[in-house]
Amino acid sequence: MAVTICLINQKGGCGKSSTCFHLAGHFAKSGRNTLLIDADPQGSLSQGFFGSAVVENLPAGETLAALFDDEQYCSTPKLPPAETTTTGIFVLRANQTLAPFNRPYPEASGMLQYALREFVEQVIGYDVILIDCPPNLYQCSWTAMVAADYVVIPVPPEDFGTQGLRVVHQAIDQAQLLNPGLRLLGHLVTRCDSRLLVHQSYERKLRSLYGETVLATVIPEAAAFKVALSSRQPVTHYSPASRAAALTSELGVELLERIGSDMLARRVA
Ligand SMILES: Nc1ncnc2c1ncn2[C@@H]1O[C@H](COP(=O)(O)OP(=O)(O)O)[C@@H](O)[C@H]1O
Ligand SMILES: [Mg+2]
Repeated sequence: MAVTICLINQKGGCGKSSTCFHLAGHFAKSGRNTLLIDADPQGSLSQGFFGSAVVENLPAGETLAALFDDEQYCSTPKLPPAETTTTGIFVLRANQTLAPFNRPYPEASGMLQYALREFVEQVIGYDVILIDCPPNLYQCSWTAMVAADYVVIPVPPEDFGTQGLRVVHQAIDQAQLLNPGLRLLGHLVTRCDSRLLVHQSYERKLRSLYGETVLATVIPEAAAFKVALSSRQPVTHYSPASRAAALTSELGVELLERIGSDMLARRVA
């Protein structure tokens, strides 16, 4: 069974898509078949691998929208994730056709809440599934939390990044009513410039507020991430010797260690 991790924050620009994109590189390089599910109607993760022209022109039936739309609905085998040029990384893509399904008040949407969970339970051949969510807590993020084993919350160490966390935590609590197995895997400090006093002080604040739930690995603001993305390859593949690649791998290792400890604790309990 694959381990499924969703990346959530109601803020845009905090590094959700970028983290999914590059982290997939680490998992694939370490021999894990990785499925990326793009659950954001903006489709930035899909565009990162396939370019905007290809992604914008995909029919709804070949995107995640097919899982939410009764008319497009097709069973799992008919919706094969697309293979990328990076060995071991596959993407279930999204584009603007997902937007009408990303409604507020997702708790009222009946069985639709389980659409992604059913897909994740049925899909085979993957070791890790990462779900990239839009910058809000509507239907797409909600169904991702209902489908996932773990949540990672990317947080830039600035006011705008840390302010809305309480709402995100509340959404996780709510989703646990439908998906009791869901766990917060960690807050991830992203886009950090450690030379800035303001970033140092927010990182400290975050660690004092949320303790061990803040991951030890910090993802810096680094041009290497953007350059690799513009070449449609994770930084682990495009610049394997870079610090950005090393920290991405460090993050992957830390996440899997946390998952290992959590699974052990659950078994003992
Ligand atoms: N660690 C980083 N270093 C440099 N640029 C980054 C980093 N993380 C994200 N970015 C860039 O910032 C922008 C927003 O990031 P993105 O991952 O798309 O945010 P989100 O998905 O949370 O909205 C993108 O252009 C992305 O390439
Ligand atoms: Mg995004």
